[in-house]
Amino acid sequence: MKPYYLTTAIDYANGSPHLGHAYEKVLADVISRTKRAMGQKSHFVTGLDEHGQKVQQGAEKEGIEPQERCDRVAKEFTDMLTELNISNDDYIRTTETRHKKVVSSLLQDLYDRGEIYMSEYRGFYSTRAEQFLQEKDKVDGDWPEIFGEVTEITEKNYFFKLGKYQDWLLEFLQENPNFILPSHRQNQVIEFLSEPLNDLCISRPKERLSWGIPLPFDQEYVTYVWFDALVNYVSAADFGEKTFSNIWPADLHVIGKDILAPPHAVYWPIMLKACNIELPKQILAHGWWTSSGAKMSKSAGETISPLDLVKLYGSDIFRFFVMREMRVGQDAEFSLDRFESRYRADLGNDLGNLVSRLLHMCTNYFDSIVPTSHVLDTPEQELIEKWEQTRKITLTFFEEFQFSQGLEQISGFIRAINKYADERVPWKLAKSTEEGDLKNLQTCISTMVEALRLANSLLVAVMPEIHEKINDRLGLSATENWDLDLDWDCRLSGRKLKEKIILFPRK
Ligand code: MSP
Repeated sequence: MKPYYLTTAIDYANGSPHLGHAYEKVLADVISRTKRAMGQKSHFVTGLDEHGQKVQQGAEKEGIEPQERCDRVAKEFTDMLTELNISNDDYIRTTETRHKKVVSSLLQDLYDRGEIYMSEYRGFYSTRAEQFLQEKDKVDGDWPEIFGEVTEITEKNYFFKLGKYQDWLLEFLQENPNFILPSHRQNQVIEFLSEPLNDLCISRPKERLSWGIPLPFDQEYVTYVWFDALVNYVSAADFGEKTFSNIWPADLHVIGKDILAPPHAVYWPIMLKACNIELPKQILAHGWWTSSGAKMSKSAGETISPLDLVKLYGSDIFRFFVMREMRVGQDAEFSLDRFESRYRADLGNDLGNLVSRLLHMCTNYFDSIVPTSHVLDTPEQELIEKWEQTRKITLTFFEEFQFSQGLEQISGFIRAINKYADERVPWKLAKSTEEGDLKNLQTCISTMVEALRLANSLLVAVMPEIHEKINDRLGLSATENWDLDLDWDCRLSGRKLKEKIILFPRK
């Protein structure tokens, strides 16, 4: 069966990783792990966008070759993926032969079929900024100092016939209202298409930019960086090989809102249509973290950047925070206060306390052997009912990529387990010598163990390490399939649990 093919944006090789990059990869990873827990095979690809003027200029400044610079940056980004425990199946770099080959073949094909043509382009050009300028770049009627000398030049370039597909794209979007998520973004794209769509200039003369993929039909030019970068999604799926249809079409492209329109929602569908390649099924545009790389102050006056928190707290805590804090599609502000308070409250007080007190009680009262449940009174029935609701609602949220709301449900269930314990007061029952109290105590611990096992099953995609630690304490291996794992059946009765553990130490 075709795997669920999931991609992220490929990051620009002209800077270092920051919170925005990290968030997107965590989001895609959580989607990929969720699919796997739901019993579906997933193929998850991310990578690096290495061509273009900024990369070339950066390398020139350092006095090194662009490739050397890209290799260094690639290591920074792949190190980030390791630190965040990202389970990608492939990492594509646009300087790889497998990618360049596909870009060339698609360009040649489009050129041969008349979808690409040469034309003269006239405009104002700044040599210092190495870019074409528009009237709107003027300040008080003059070109600002930063552009240096501006001259009007005429340049021959190659254009892709984007405009002729405008009506087709509009119709496609109208017929496929769930193509772009969240849906208000799809409406923005439709609005964008209400203006006439110009053809896309897909070449840059080599004398201005050499760091790119040469046009196969004219070696004096390199390919425009977006035309190059977008193609990664099919080159990573082995376009041109027999195996392509085993992976393509992509089920989901995860990207940030800034690169939705026009690149992903306009150029990309049209490029695929013109190449007779099937379109991806869906695009998910997430919001922006504000102050993504900004240093934040800690109480002692030190400063800390968001990615430092991965090292300080561990990848799971960071993953939980970004997934819980940002509603997919909306923007969020990153703050150390919010981070610390989620750590203390949602993780430490709710989940951490539950795990440690439950293991402690099971060891003390039953020598770590999970007892059997004897009664099904109102407190148990209510908790089971709460679980069935949590399971249903959470899975629906997860399927819609609404992880923040899903995690909110799980936290609510964990609090309900703690509340159940407060109602049953097992520490009092343990002091009693009455038979009925012993049965209630056994029921209470058995019920709590089962509830914790289930809550923990739902955490596998967001906090895989914590999930495994809790399962290990419960004598279980990692969750493999939610279809089998999420039924309330007290399957741990009679098992030996391990000693208690502090999952979220005070910082
Ligand atoms: N190279 C292009 C993408 C090509 S995809 C064929 C690019 N690179 S990027 O490095 O600038 O951005 C990579 C991803 O990070 C984008 O999806 C972008 O939206 C995301 N983010 C960059 N800054 C961000 C935040 N502050 N917050 C959340 N995500 C943001 O664009």
